Order: sequence, then structure tokens, then C-alpha cells
Amino acid sequence: MNEIIIHDSHFYNEDCITGCQAHLPDGSVDLIVTDPPYGIAGDTLHKHYNRNEAFVMDGYIEVPAADYGDFSRRWIAEAARILRPNGAIYIVSGYTQLYHVLAALRATELLEVNHLIWKYNFGVFTRTKYVSSHYHILYYEKPGPGKRTFNLTCRYGLRENAPDGGSLNYQDREDVWIINREYKPGQVKNKNELPTALLIKMLQYSSHEGDLICDPFLGGFSTARVALGLNRRCVGFELSPAAFDRGVARLQTLTPGDLLGQLRQPQTETLANQGRSWDEAEITALLARYEALRAEGKTKKAAFEILSAEFGRGRWALERILKRRRGATDGDPIG
Ligand SMILES: C[S@@+](CC[C@H](N)C(=O)[O-])C[C@H]1O[C@@H](n2cnc3c(N)ncnc32)[C@H](O)[C@@H]1O
Repeated sequence: MNEIIIHDSHFYNEDCITGCQAHLPDGSVDLIVTDPPYGIAGDTLHKHYNRNEAFVMDGYIEVPAADYGDFSRRWIAEAARILRPNGAIYIVSGYTQLYHVLAALRATELLEVNHLIWKYNFGVFTRTKYVSSHYHILYYEKPGPGKRTFNLTCRYGLRENAPDGGSLNYQDREDVWIINREYKPGQVKNKNELPTALLIKMLQYSSHEGDLICDPFLGGFSTARVALGLNRRCVGFELSPAAFDRGVARLQTLTPGDLLGQLRQPQTETLANQGRSWDEAEITALLARYEALRAEGKTKKAAFEILSAEFGRGRWALERILKRRRGATDGDPIG
């Protein structure tokens, strides 16, 4: 066993199943983010990932397809044990062995929160069938008396709109994530190293600074680098000595918190009158002001932006009141 401690984080060059049993007590980690070996033939793995094998890091340890079910049950049982109540897990999985991962999850007390699809670029080129360009991300939680961490407005405020008027918060939380792989021609990297943007998204929504994040299959240590970069702590395992040494060397040069500065700042200010009940005078003023803005030639969207600022209320609250009072009979439906 080889243990390295960097920035209050522990990394073990050993098997994650026996490693968890040896080093991690029940309920000791806040969040698990991982992509296990895929259980597809090792010597053709680069074809699945559309990579030039010369630049794929050696030392990746695969799990034989025949063992995948048993292997999944054993590591996922450990993951469920070490998660704290209300903690969460994200597992990235291809489709080949997905059914084993789903069966293993169902054999635990963990509950599904979302089955996410990560769509990426550089899919596997095919001529006789459709191009494969997605992974599954299984987002589960451990039941508990409290609330699972879900930082609703960590990336976009609830009132932030895209240029087409759609809600940025809603779009960011749809269950299909379109995030490109980091294609680094000529650089040695792990097979299927997860993009930083994908990991940042999972950690932002599902953890706080100081939380302990576990990755049982460190590979290129991408989860560890993002966890430390966002001021979280990390614990992880990697069986391959070559991958472990390379990952540790990359962590040595990292400054904790170095990713925080590049995060987008959401606009989350609450409106002055949000949640307050309406009185008759306010409703009368709102109706009059809406008519006036429309008479001036303002679009509905522009009118609602002005009304929201003036009345200190969100667009949906304004629409609800206007619809109720004006009805749908005046030829100018609100919606
Ligand atoms: C798909 S890769 C992880 C890639 C990683 N998420 C990244 O972004 O670089 C899976 C890793 O698990 C390692 N591995 C295989 N069996 C293991 C085991 N029993 N315990 C710990 N690590 C293992 C492999 O060597 C490989 O590096």
C-alpha cells in the first residue's frame, strides 16, 4: 500500500474495494464522483474513445467483462457504506456494462435522483449504424433524515435568461449535458479523462467548500484536481502504479482553490417583494402600468422586465396576477 497525503487529501495506490474497507469508516464521505473501468476489451479501448493509442497513458487496469457484475456489486456496496446519509454519488458509465451498474445500485439502499446523459464530441465514427456520442451518469443519493446538498443557484440565478428568453438555470439543470471532451493532441493522458467542466458542474451542484469528495477510480486524478481546485478535500484510490505516480505528480503543482476564480458568478439577488401577498392597490397599479407599457409599443418581454424591476416581483408572479385579472378575453393574452 502506498499512501500520499497532499493538501489534506489522501490518495492510495491500491484496490478501491479493500482500500475503502481499510481506510474509510461508514458515512465518512460527502460525495462520490467516479467513472469505473468500463469492462470492454483493453486492447481496443482506444477505438471506443477515438484516440491515438500512442498518446493514451499506459497502466490503465481493466476489469474483465465476465467479472463486471460481481466487481460492480462489490465496489458499489462499499460506496454506499462510506457515503454519509443524504450524501450523493455520480457514476459515469458507458452503455456496454450499464445494466450491471444499475443492478448493483439497486442492490443497495441508494435511491435514483437522476439518470443523466452526457453528450460529448468526437464520438466513435461508424458507417453502418449511428454514431455513439454519449455516456450515462447515474446520480443517486443515500437516504437520510436531512436534505441532500443541491445548490440550486450555484451557477445561474433563477431569473437569469438566455438571449432567446429561456431560463439559464432551467437549461443548465436539464438532464442532458452537452460538454465537450478536452482534446489535447500530442499530450499523454488517461483513457477517457473526464473534462474539467463536467466535474466542476457535479461538484458545484452537489458539494460545499471543505466537503470530502471520494473517487475510487482516480485514473488521471481529474476528480481530485477539480475537488482541490474548488477547495474541497479528496480521498481516492488507483490500482495502477504508473497512473498513480503520474496523478500524484500532477497534484503536487496544484494550488487549492485555483479553479474558484474562473467560476461564473450567478445573479441571485432576491426581489424586494418576492413572496409577499398582493393588495388591491398594487394589483390596480400593475394593470395600469402594463397597459401603458404595451400602449407605448413595448413587447411583452420588455414590459415584464420593466414591471419586475418596478414592482420587485418575478415574471411568473406578475403573469399570474395579470392573467387572473385580465382574463383571456381582451385579445392580448399574456403568455
Ligand atoms: C475510467 S478510468 C478513470 C478515469 C478518471 N476518471 C479520469 O478522469 O482520468 C478507471 C481507472 O480505474 C483504475 N482501476 C481499475 N481497477 C481498479 C480498482 N480495483 N481499484 C482502483 N482503481 C482501479 C484503472 O487503472 C483506471 O485508471
